[in-house]
Amino acid sequence: MAQVELHCLRVRNGFRVPDLLLSEPERHRAAAFRSIEARRLFVAGRFLCRHILGSRLGCAPQALSIAMTPSGRPYLPDHPDIDFNISHTRDRVALAINHGGGIGIDIERLDAFSEEDTVEIMPMILSEDELNQVRQSEPQYRRDVVLACWVRKEAALKCLGLGFRIDPKAVAITPDGATSSIGHRESKASTLIHSGRFGDAESGIFEWAIMTSKPVSRPTWHHHGA
Ligand SMILES: CC(C)(COP(=O)(O)OP(=O)(O)OC[C@H]1O[C@@H](n2cnc3c(N)ncnc32)[C@H](O)[C@@H]1OP(=O)(O)O)[C@@H](O)C(=O)NCCC(=O)NCCS
Repeated sequence: MAQVELHCLRVRNGFRVPDLLLSEPERHRAAAFRSIEARRLFVAGRFLCRHILGSRLGCAPQALSIAMTPSGRPYLPDHPDIDFNISHTRDRVALAINHGGGIGIDIERLDAFSEEDTVEIMPMILSEDELNQVRQSEPQYRRDVVLACWVRKEAALKCLGLGFRIDPKAVAITPDGATSSIGHRESKASTLIHSGRFGDAESGIFEWAIMTSKPVSRPTWHHHGA
């Protein structure tokens, strides 16, 4: 069975990495961000994946070659057997690594959507069936139900590599405990979900989901910089 590792870095204000850790294209990309927070999260994502993947592959973090697909998905051109994916939100960067299959990850803070956002987002991401299910749920739980659905769909779209170039309404998720199957019109590929929450009231509670192209056992999180 493919092996998945999940890592989360808490990114504090003032987080910096030596310039030489990043590749030249990464340094250019970091310099182009207008928002300090967005730049910090991008750099933290590269820091995390260079350190963790470098240690697994026995190479220095700065020596790791990271390429990008035309749709912006980073991958390891020299290690086609290892897939990874990054997600960031607020002060967290999450890294999912799959040794033996494709993977997509999404994390969001539980309070990512206001009640108004939820109402606006629902018809943009949910299929008719899912909309009906959400409308039948207790109003006080709707925001959490929609957020969980969003996180699962985004993880799926990232596993497939096209992100929101695929209409999330066309992605069907069949609940089955913590694991669901997914299918959509644009691809015959199916993927599998694990999802959950971590964190606490003080530092924030985060909803997460990963999608993998092959079954994996439920992974555990490794937290860094807490
Ligand atoms: C992938 C996507 C859903 C991510 O949305 P987001 O709000 O930034 O969400 P996250 O923080 O969870 O994920 C960001 C990370 O996803 C990864 N990513 C980017 N594009 C991706 C893709 N097509 N598939 C999978 N992962 C992707 C990157 O590692 C990115 O972090 P980085 O830029 O710091 O390396 C969104 O960017 C998208 O739909 N992109 C594809 C289509 C597109 O418009 N591309 C334009 C750029 S070429």
